[in-house]
Amino acid sequence: MAKLIIEGKKRLSGEVRIGGSKNSSVALIPAALLGEGPSTLDNVPLIRDVQVFAQILKDLGASVTLDRNTMTVAPNGFSSHVAPYDLVRKLRASYYLMGVLLAKFGKAEVGLPGGCDIGPRPIDQHLKGFRALGAEVTVEGGVVKLFAKKLTGAPVYLDIPSVGATINIMLAASLAEGTTVIENAAKEPHVVDLANFLNAMGGRVLGAGTDVIRIKGVKRLHGAPHSVIPDDMEAATYMMAAVATGGDVEVKGVITKHLEPVTAKLKEAGAVIEQNGDYIRVIGPERPNPVNVKTLPYPGFPTDAQQPLVAVLARSTGVSVVQESMYDNRLGYVSELIKMGAKIKVEGRTAIVEGVPRLVGAPVTTNDLRAGASLVVAGLSAEGTTEIYGLEIIDRGYELIEEKLSAIGAKVFRVEN
Ligand code: EPU
Repeated sequence: MAKLIIEGKKRLSGEVRIGGSKNSSVALIPAALLGEGPSTLDNVPLIRDVQVFAQILKDLGASVTLDRNTMTVAPNGFSSHVAPYDLVRKLRASYYLMGVLLAKFGKAEVGLPGGCDIGPRPIDQHLKGFRALGAEVTVEGGVVKLFAKKLTGAPVYLDIPSVGATINIMLAASLAEGTTVIENAAKEPHVVDLANFLNAMGGRVLGAGTDVIRIKGVKRLHGAPHSVIPDDMEAATYMMAAVATGGDVEVKGVITKHLEPVTAKLKEAGAVIEQNGDYIRVIGPERPNPVNVKTLPYPGFPTDAQQPLVAVLARSTGVSVVQESMYDNRLGYVSELIKMGAKIKVEGRTAIVEGVPRLVGAPVTTNDLRAGASLVVAGLSAEGTTEIYGLEIIDRGYELIEEKLSAIGAKVFRVEN
């Protein structure tokens, strides 16, 4: 198991450039299989989830090359509608293969996905969408089997604005006959990014970014070039790190609009924020103010930024109440922050964070990506040395984390074991 060692209490300053979005990339990469020719995705982040997805596509017969941050996906040779569990267990987003394989071959067999340990993550809304489009759906022995003689556009009302279900239904509907209307659709930036890519491939997707998305199926899609949007959650994590260390960091290459819920909370916490065009400068206070927050679908405060925010609030000057509304088990990392001296009480899905003047480095372990981000932020602001076990999990979603942090003044080292 690799670990990250942080010698904390260094005030971060300087510039950090944000990479492409993980959650966009893991939708765009399988979407490229829908084209009849090669697609080129630019600004792809060098993270483990991307590498794993590239490997899954290769194992399915597609040709994939990655040259620095540019990935080319050529679907010729891709002929299997079966994605075995051994492949898909490695990342949650492998469920997007269901929509893609169903659209492309009229059938799919995809093992139920793995991913972070943050509580039950059902896919009933995805399956409801496939059924509405005319697919037969069975789940047997941990494998989802989908079959459709023909996919036909249909209205789908989502019970919750699920990102995964919205994207999966868009993928399946892109080559269906007729128009699919997704109501109560997710509005996250990566939903819009996928719609833009599908449209560049010759698709007809309207309304992405609102809660009603219309997908008019087309007979064929072609390959297209596309640039992945910046990763708002990577940006949010560096913004939190700046605040936690009382630093002064320019987070560059972002879409500031996507970060508004995070920016607003950090201002409340006492950070001074300057933004213009594609950068956000964050100047952290000596100690943050307490703030209350509830995670919500976009444009609410993102669940993926909840964990790093709690690490910031652990050193605040008062009591904060943080409510996690998306996942049952996304506060498990709190026990690790407590090892570092944080005073946090968890009641159900709520964390009551009583700020303390200092955190102290400790050996800690992460079993989920954003929990890892929380421990990094805590370690940067803590006195002494923090050892974070489970660095592979952080590598799933953070590109070159130790290089980027070192460049803004952190003392961090990777130890491979
Ligand atoms: N849900 C259902 N049924 C469904 C689908 C979702 O009950 O069929 C529930 C989930 O259990 C959860 C809520 O709806 O309680 C939201 O789930 P959603 O489908 O929106 O999330 P997701 O697609 O599984 C994506 C991101 C997550 C991020 C969430 C919320 C990807 C690959 N993952 O997950 O990212 O937390 O949206 O914004 O896009 C991360 O990056 O660390 C991460 C976990």
